[in-house]
Parts: sequence; structure tokens; C-alpha cells
Amino acid sequence: MKIADLTFEPLIEEKAIAKRITLLGEQLNNDYAGKTPIFIGVLSGCFLFVADLVKQINIPCEVTFTKLASYYGGTTSTLKIREDIDLSVDINGRHVVILEDIVDTGNTLSYLIEKLKLHTPASIKVCSLLLKPGKLELSIEELRYIGFEIENEFVVGYGLDYKELGRNLKDIYRLIS
Ligand code: IMP
Repeated sequence: MKIADLTFEPLIEEKAIAKRITLLGEQLNNDYAGKTPIFIGVLSGCFLFVADLVKQINIPCEVTFTKLASYYGGTTSTLKIREDIDLSVDINGRHVVILEDIVDTGNTLSYLIEKLKLHTPASIKVCSLLLKPGKLELSIEELRYIGFEIENEFVVGYGLDYKELGRNLKDIYRLIS
């Protein structure tokens, strides 16, 4: 499949994504029973993941979003983080679960975690659909729930983009190098 100037091949199918998300939902339902967590999606890449995951949640919960970006339309991460939409809810004393599409170097995530900690939540954990363990530059103890671990490769689809394209794809594809 061609997206802009690059070629991609299938990596994770829609069905496998749905199955994994059901299991993540079950885990969250158990771990947060009696707690009313706040799910904070990190836009834009998380939008499909958040939509599908929260449908599996059967305990009281809140859902909100923030927007951070470290990629600027390329295929490698930059260290600069741009803050586009700030968080509007009060998380003081609340159990926060950050929902990410993908953790690559971990820089975006650790920036967000440090920022959220200033507002003294009761707890912060992270649930990421994808993780590239080989690219992770920092150890992030809050990273508790992972959908799939993938190789050091660039992926698109299911919310993830290349030059803002491909977010609408049902499956996840990897770059053919
Ligand atoms: P990090 O700060 O290096 O962990 O990068 C995290 C952000 O970069 C993610 O939230 C994505 O928006 C973007 N990103 C990282 N890897 C990929 C990829 O393979 N495809 C598309 N976007 C990616």
C-alpha cells in the first residue's frame, strides 16, 4: 500500500487489534473497580484506540483528551514537543490512565507524566496500544498496559499517520524499507 511517497505492508489486522483491546478493557475494569478513573487520550493518533477501548469499560469513568506532538510529519521522532491542547479537567486526587497510540522514544510520554504529576493525581498509569521496546530511551514505571510490542519500525493506520495520511485505515501497516 502506498501512502504519499512511501510503501507499507500489513502488520496487525483489525480483528487482532479488537481482540487485544477487549483484553485491555477487562484488565482495566478489574484494576480500577470502585475507582472512577479519568482516561486521558493523547491526540491525534489515539482517537480510534480511545473510542474502541472505552466501549469495553464497564465501570464509571471519565474520558478527556490532550494534544502533544513530537513528530512533525516525518518517520523519526524529534525531541521537541509541541503542546497543542492543554488539559481542561482537574485531576487532583484522581486515578489517571493516559491512553497513547504508540510509545517510541518515550519522550512525549515522560513529558506528559511529569506535567500531570504537578496536579497531584492519586495515581498515573499508561495504556499504550503499541510500544517499540527497542526505541525506548527512558524507563517509564507508569507504563503498565501494552497492546502490542513491535520492532523498531515506522507504522501507520488505526489512528497513526504518515504526513497526516493513513489515520483512517482499519489495520496497522509497517513501512517496507
Ligand atoms: P515518542 O515521544 O518518541 O515516544 O513519540 C511518540 C509519538 O510519536 C506518538 O504519540 C506518535 O504520535 C508518534 N510516533 C511514534 N512512532 C510512530 C510510528 O511508527 N508511526 C506514526 N507515529 C509515530
